[in-house]
Amino acid sequence: MILAFYIVLLSTPSSTTGECYLTPSTLLIQPAGRVKGLTCEDVPWSAVTTIQCAMLCLVRENCTVVSKDCQTGPCQCTLCQGVDDLGDFNSSVLPAEVYIIGRVLAANLTVPPRQTILLPGPVVEGQVFRFLLSLLSTKMVLKLMIDSQFAFLMEIRFWSRNVVRNSLLGGKWGQQEQGVPYFNFTLNQELEVIFVVTRLEYKVYFDSVPFFNFQHREPGLARINILEAYGSGDDIGYLHSAFVSMQ
Ligand SMILES: *[C@@H]1O[C@H](CO)[C@@H](O)[C@H](O)[C@H]1NC(C)=O
Ligand SMILES: *[C@@H]1O[C@H](CO)[C@@H](O)[C@H](O)[C@H]1NC(C)=O
Ligand SMILES: *[C@@H]1O[C@H](CO)[C@@H](O)[C@H](O)[C@H]1NC(C)=O
Ligand SMILES: *[C@@H]1O[C@H](CO)[C@@H](O)[C@H](O)[C@H]1NC(C)=O
Repeated sequence: MILAFYIVLLSTPSSTTGECYLTPSTLLIQPAGRVKGLTCEDVPWSAVTTIQCAMLCLVRENCTVVSKDCQTGPCQCTLCQGVDDLGDFNSSVLPAEVYIIGRVLAANLTVPPRQTILLPGPVVEGQVFRFLLSLLSTKMVLKLMIDSQFAFLMEIRFWSRNVVRNSLLGGKWGQQEQGVPYFNFTLNQELEVIFVVTRLEYKVYFDSVPFFNFQHREPGLARINILEAYGSGDDIGYLHSAFVSMQ
């Protein structure tokens, strides 16, 4: 069992309007819970390092997750083809470590408030998006788009203490979904938002807590090509980082 969700950023510069990129050796460590991989293999390797596990994953096709567990005898790297769920969080259990290899799409941007970022490749099942936000305004929007259409839009709304979700496909808004397990967010606080792309839906986590799912309305996930983020005003600096696992 894998308990703790860490992300390795082995990034390469990608097309965004920002200028800041993390170096390949930068590790961003994020404690969370168990990751359920789609198809995984365990590779025993005594005294393996994080980077060595990540490198093993790099040479495998579609390998997005690496976990390292040295707690039960010799170390072992667990390599998976994709993530299914971030699963049950139980921080009282000794953690193994999980790393997701991917690239930084944006980091600490100081350029215009609305960020329109081209994705480096098609969206696929098992992929993970991770955003670190500062909630600077009373609304915060994240969108996955197909050109000018919205496959998935989520909007954090302080005034109604909710997070609404919708799509805009074929020129038509879909049915709005809302409802969250709780809303105790405050202005200026930081928030981690994770999307796990599964076959049926996006599983969305706020600060590692499963917050809601959004069923795919656009069947052609691979057509999604743009990520957009914005708040309600001219705020810059709300997007500390946007990360996507490599496919
Ligand atoms: C890798 O992912 C691509 C795109 O989802 C898929 O077409 C291909 O079959 C995958 N390869 C393996 C070995 O799973
Ligand atoms: C967390 O794990 C510990 C040790 O396995 C267990 O005793 C405890 O009940 C678990 N907590 C939850 C909420 O599942
Ligand atoms: C962004 O800025 C924050 C606050 O200054 C800093 O803690 C963080 O490390 C920076 N993140 C990146 C990805 O550079
Ligand atoms: C918000 O509520 C959740 C669930 O009750 C809780 O775990 C979390 O600590 C709360 N956060 C704050 C800042 O109060």
